[in-house]
Amino acid sequence: MAEEAILGYLEKNEQISDSGKFAAERGLDHNDIVNVVKSLHGFRYVDAQVLFLNEDLGLYIGVSVQDIKRETWVLTDEGRKYAAEGSPEVQLFLAVPTEGSIPKDELQKKLDPAVFKIGCSQAGKNRWVEMGKQISRKCQLLNLEPVMVGDEVHHVEDKIKDLLLRVQDGHAVEKDDVNTLKARKLIVPQTWKGYSVSKGPNYAPKRKKVATDLTRENIQRGDWKELEFKEYNFNAKGQPAEGGHLHPLLKVRKQLKDIFLQMGFEEMPTNNFVESSFWNFDVLFQPQQHPARDSHDTFFMEEPSTTRELPEAYVELVKRVHESGGYGSRGYEYDWKREEANKNLLRTHTTAVSSRMLKALAEKPFAPKKYFSIDRVFRNEAVDRTHLAEFHQIEGLVCDRGLTLGDLIGVLHDFFSRLGMSKLRFKPAYNPYTEPSMEIFSYHEGLGKWVEIGNSGMFRPEMLLPMGFSEDVRVIAWGLSLERPTMILYGIDNIRDLFGHKVDLGLIKRNPICRIGMD
Ligand code: PHE
Repeated sequence: MAEEAILGYLEKNEQISDSGKFAAERGLDHNDIVNVVKSLHGFRYVDAQVLFLNEDLGLYIGVSVQDIKRETWVLTDEGRKYAAEGSPEVQLFLAVPTEGSIPKDELQKKLDPAVFKIGCSQAGKNRWVEMGKQISRKCQLLNLEPVMVGDEVHHVEDKIKDLLLRVQDGHAVEKDDVNTLKARKLIVPQTWKGYSVSKGPNYAPKRKKVATDLTRENIQRGDWKELEFKEYNFNAKGQPAEGGHLHPLLKVRKQLKDIFLQMGFEEMPTNNFVESSFWNFDVLFQPQQHPARDSHDTFFMEEPSTTRELPEAYVELVKRVHESGGYGSRGYEYDWKREEANKNLLRTHTTAVSSRMLKALAEKPFAPKKYFSIDRVFRNEAVDRTHLAEFHQIEGLVCDRGLTLGDLIGVLHDFFSRLGMSKLRFKPAYNPYTEPSMEIFSYHEGLGKWVEIGNSGMFRPEMLLPMGFSEDVRVIAWGLSLERPTMILYGIDNIRDLFGHKVDLGLIKRNPICRIGMD
């Protein structure tokens, strides 16, 4: 509607001199006209000049900028009232009888209180009426001689009403008069935007549809020659990328991987969730009656329930160390059962991988090694806000001749300080496969206390010597969960919000990148 009106009008006329009037004359909404003018101007169908009405009222200035507000005046409620009924001073004047005077209180009864009050002061100022002198306070009290109001002149013009009507009709008013009306709060400034509009370089009586894309059909038909293309909007925001998003665990894992690599560690292949009890437990000198080997703690496989093969010669050595020890150990002095070692399970720790790797290492000419892994492990645990039946384990180990507990403590300090944890404490602990063993605690500044962050130790001779390592080779190792630091870093206090079917995917999308130890 508005667009047709504008383009149609300009077809026959030079210009629309005032969009406001143009809208009013056609009963169109001026806002619609303004929007269409802006859009047509953007495509250069029209030239638009902003109309600016300066404070003197009535003087239009066309400026070539796009958006300047012009100021105009509108009547206040009070102003509208006087425009209709006359100014208070004139109302008061007319209420005074032409032949003479009237007692003030009688006059007051004839008029609206506000009109009376303002009328008195304005008519007095204009010297239209004369207020009788108050004789004395006493006389007034006794009402002996009432104050009189009398006509001074015989005819007045209602200039205020005239001015208000002029403003109401949008006509020019002298600056002094504007100031008078403004001071009496009968008019207030109102700013609005308007345009004068004329044909632009691309003027057409009807807007051509602009193309946003060049299609195969456009090229085949050849109509691309006539097509007008929409200009690129380089300020438009792009669509949010709908790609994949890394899970916080993956982001933290990447950081940890980098730390291990910077420290010269090689990654172990952890791509087997299913492991035999032999590699998961027996090799690690974990007795077959150990409670961790119970189905309450470990997920055993139903199909295939047992491993197909084990390295037989090595199995013999492991059996012997469990039953009767050797290498200075008494062993556990029980009957070691092959069936127990054959059972397949979901690995309960990545130390199962470490044991395979160390066995392979022991078979080669000796070379020191630093290995790490970060991958999934499974435990048949009661699920709560900090435990799931599966989690990720971070594991590091160093194999070299003559390593001591001091080396382990040193490596742990190096590793954890790269994670931003430089205050560490160690507590003696027990693992079947390490001696000595230490739990690792770190001082948590936020919580203001020491929190357990991992487990560590030196692998026992009962584990290393049957593998074939020479007696002076030591392996120091440590392990921790990936979930713990991730939850701390991302401020997640329920593990089910981090992992599993209850995870909020929106959260995964919005999570920031992870930068450990870089402040
Ligand atoms: N496997 C141990 C655990 O599950 C971690 C660990 C690794 C401990 C290496 C000592 C040495 O907690």
